Amino acid sequence: MFSLEGRVALVTGAGQSVGAGIATVLARQGAAVIVNDLFADRAEKVAAAIEEEGGRAIASAFDVTDYDAVVEHVRAAETLFGRHVDVLVNNAGIAEGRFNLPFRQLTPEQWRAPIDLNIFGAFNCVQVVLEGMCDAGWGRVVQISSGSARTGQNIGVSMYATGKSGVEGFIRHLAAETGQFGVTANILALGHQKNLEEKMPEEMINDIIATIPIRRLGDAIEVGAACAYLASDESGGMTGQTIDFNGGSQTR
Ligand SMILES: NC(=O)c1ccc[n+]([C@@H]2O[C@H](COP(=O)([O-])OP(=O)(O)OC[C@H]3O[C@@H](n4cnc5c(N)ncnc54)[C@H](O)[C@@H]3O)[C@@H](O)[C@H]2O)c1
Repeated sequence: MFSLEGRVALVTGAGQSVGAGIATVLARQGAAVIVNDLFADRAEKVAAAIEEEGGRAIASAFDVTDYDAVVEHVRAAETLFGRHVDVLVNNAGIAEGRFNLPFRQLTPEQWRAPIDLNIFGAFNCVQVVLEGMCDAGWGRVVQISSGSARTGQNIGVSMYATGKSGVEGFIRHLAAETGQFGVTANILALGHQKNLEEKMPEEMINDIIATIPIRRLGDAIEVGAACAYLASDESGGMTGQTIDFNGGSQTR
């Protein structure tokens, strides 16, 4: 079950953390994985680790917000693997140098990066792989989102959350348009992940964990397993859905 043998998967922002977990699991399920990241060294490290454990992967460094770069690198990777992209996981979503500030402290120049990355980054990647999927009569798009897309939070992430809300709307419409061609599109809305331990003080992490029913942060390999399901043949009956993957958190 959930075999991805013979499939090619593109995972964006896969050079570390959640994306690396997703790329690793998709490769373990048999997919040949295009490991994208803004930084070549990160992508190369993850692709090498996948190959080391017997999987197939190539590193592909490009900025998902740059349409021409997406076209160039995705076509090159498809040529290398000798097949179009069957599975797209839009995971890149944390803009480099991201800062968390309340809206009243943001300048108009600071609004753009999270919107560009989460909305235009997703548009670019979907656009570049969609024809191949529709022509083949099979495709899977998995959008990584966040609970903040549907819940107001006083933690300075309004622009990021706006980007996530926007892309969630896009994915629902995409699902409605492409289901007839065998292409599904679903959203995995994550709760707080383990890598936050590197970014936040321990006290804050403990406060967050206390609000999560499973009493721990999210795990990248578990997110990867959910993506493997959504990328599989067996998930073909599910499209246009938003799945909260957050340890049961009610605050999202
Ligand atoms: N970490 C969490 O707690 C959490 C919670 C909810 C949702 N998410 C979502 O999960 C996804 C992954 O988050 P993460 O915490 O692993 O992020 P991260 O910052 O640890 O890693 C993301 C990777 O994306 C790359 N990247 C950034 N901009 C890019 C671009 N323009 N093009 C290509 N690659 C780019 C970065 O170089 C980085 O290696 C994001 O969509 C994020 O919004 C994360």
